[in-house]
Amino acid sequence: MTQLITLDPQQPEPAAIALAATILRAGKLVAFPTETVYGLGANALDPLAVERIYKAKGRPASDPLIVHIADLDQLDMITIDLPAIVPLLARYFWPGPLTLVLRRSALIPASVSAGLDTVAVRIPRHPVAHALIEAAGLPIAAPSANRFARPSPTTAQHVYDDLAGRVDMILDGGPTTIGLESTVVDLSGDPPAVLRPGGLSVEALRRFIPNIHFTPRYTTPEKASPSPGTLLKHYSPDAELILVSGMRTAVLEYIRAEIVRRHTAGQRIGILAVDEDRAFFDGLPAQLLALGSEGNLAQVGTHLFARIRELDQAGVDCMFVRSLEQTGIGLAIWDRLVRAAEGRVVEV
Ligand code: TXA
Ligand code: MG
Repeated sequence: MTQLITLDPQQPEPAAIALAATILRAGKLVAFPTETVYGLGANALDPLAVERIYKAKGRPASDPLIVHIADLDQLDMITIDLPAIVPLLARYFWPGPLTLVLRRSALIPASVSAGLDTVAVRIPRHPVAHALIEAAGLPIAAPSANRFARPSPTTAQHVYDDLAGRVDMILDGGPTTIGLESTVVDLSGDPPAVLRPGGLSVEALRRFIPNIHFTPRYTTPEKASPSPGTLLKHYSPDAELILVSGMRTAVLEYIRAEIVRRHTAGQRIGILAVDEDRAFFDGLPAQLLALGSEGNLAQVGTHLFARIRELDQAGVDCMFVRSLEQTGIGLAIWDRLVRAAEGRVVEV
């Protein structure tokens, strides 16, 4: 049975938080909102609780989890050999959408980190997440609260759709604000490396870590992956997602022609479009969902996963997306779209 509790995202009711904390301390699962996406939480110090996360998600044991903490004292408990840059990064970016991969202390079970000698850590900003971790008095392991390889959940309803009956409690704190997962930075090697672009831009990180390294690694499932979140089949909709890249007008023309062709072939078609492009698709036999303005990529990021899920639910066979600028939060948007497209990017 999954208990669903709605609470005030800004000032969560203490009684609800206390109840959720009790469930976590008993080794069970609580899904909760963070500022990025909803997380599927369990006691990070309890191997049996951690095991439940993998089971509920259907996640391979080779994919490590992020540990969520409320303050820097907990960081000292769960890591060793902290690099000198950490206090500075923590001061500027925590709480917030930054995850640091650090050396793991013996307190954290190996299963949390898929056997690696590192642990990924972040301090979330969302008041519900923060209150819950504090009330539990524990570091909380929490991957995104979706079934493995599905788009990450940005509402409690998404969590429910994926995990009803598999999680003990869902805390509903409304839609998440960033809508894309945290930026994962590996500080355990040299140079520091971005393993996953996310809610914090690489440009912002570069101001503090000038030599930070980022190479997109869109590995296929067969190859062993240094950060399993880099698996290509990830965030996958049921429908085929077609990401089209190139000069705007050429891309729009291409998509329009493809819609006509596929419609003639009997397909049901969806479009994820920025406001600036909507008029271009008027009158075409396709269901269009708006992502927000291209001039406000943060807004596009907020809506992306929810719109992909909506089009899937509408039962389309394929969905078209035009690639946008890859700077700032745009890099994370591009990354999620490439994965959702399973690497098939059409260049026109
Ligand atoms: O915003 C977020 O990060 C959300 C919310 C719930 O905090 N969580 C999230 O978790 O996205 P998950 O499990 O879906 O993604 C964790 C990512 C994966 O790409 C994983 O491979 C990477 O972090 N990761 C975790 N531990 C790691 C480690 N020790 N070394 C390298 N990568 C690690
Ligand atoms: Mg995930």
